[in-house]
Amino acid sequence: MIINSRNRRLRTTPALRALVQETVLTTHDFVMPIFVMEGSQKQEPISAMPGIFRRSIDLTVQECRELFSLGIKGVNLYMKVSEDLKDNTGKEAWNKNGLMQNTIKAIKDAVPEMVIMPDVALDPYSMYGHDGIINNGKIDNDATNEALVKMSVSLAEAGADIMAPSDMMDGRVAAIRQGLEENGFTDVGILSYAAKYASSFYGPFRTALDSAPKENQDVPKDKKTYQMDFHNSREALDEVLKDVAEGADIIMIKPGMPYLDIVSKVRDMIDLPIAVYNVSGEYAMLKAAAQNGWLDNDKAIIESLTCIKRAGADMIFTYAAKEAAILLNN
Ligand code: PBG
Repeated sequence: MIINSRNRRLRTTPALRALVQETVLTTHDFVMPIFVMEGSQKQEPISAMPGIFRRSIDLTVQECRELFSLGIKGVNLYMKVSEDLKDNTGKEAWNKNGLMQNTIKAIKDAVPEMVIMPDVALDPYSMYGHDGIINNGKIDNDATNEALVKMSVSLAEAGADIMAPSDMMDGRVAAIRQGLEENGFTDVGILSYAAKYASSFYGPFRTALDSAPKENQDVPKDKKTYQMDFHNSREALDEVLKDVAEGADIIMIKPGMPYLDIVSKVRDMIDLPIAVYNVSGEYAMLKAAAQNGWLDNDKAIIESLTCIKRAGADMIFTYAAKEAAILLNN
């Protein structure tokens, strides 16, 4: 029998494979999440996230210089707040001289071109480890939105470029947009975590910030009343369309690798840029396997990030950003 169609023809040589390659991963696809703490010249490793550190502002600025020179154009900021600054309202989040505000100013001064995307959520500031204010044992959606608006305006005043609300309250994109407009921050954008699932893959991150929901019978034990149920897919499309209608500039899907079906469906549905969060637990799995010699670290990183892009991501939030940038630059 004569075979007319042979798919292997175009796989014959590296040059031919390069010519027909559909997805090209570049350093411009990455956003590096960064953990900041008080102090100076301080750097602490984060357990379960080999190669990732909490750093004081001075060392964070140094790291941002290095990231930008490697081709990474965006950072996503998270603060480790001391317990005595936490309460139910999260009001430290809009302290003009708070850790986040000072970090933003310091990065802007040193690396003005870096796109600064602070996390907008109350959990690192909440004594209960929740993204919402608690009222009678329940998350108070609308009171939380008011807090998120105050936080956003304060971060915009400090010089942030794009707000990244990760809380999953209803209506917060519209509220934040209105707050920014009313205060003259018409050019400050919103990257909305539109479809963020209640996921066990956030474990290492919560350890890094000490931000897991607290054991307390008067507060919800998990985040399932606001983050999405991982059994659902159509609901994600609804969440995305609502955030687009409310004025989001970029849409986030989170986690990444186990949720690429959602990324692909959202890609087919909207034309706004899509961000995908390759979360802490995904990073931890890869690192654990690599440290055991069970996976080739470098190849597995490049493959996973390329596949996230192939699914439809325009940008990828990943703890492997720096490592991947170094690999791509060589
Ligand atoms: C909280 C927040 C979380 C992450 C980013 N922002 C954790 C959570 O929702 O509990 C997770 C990131 C990661 O695991 O890498 N607003």
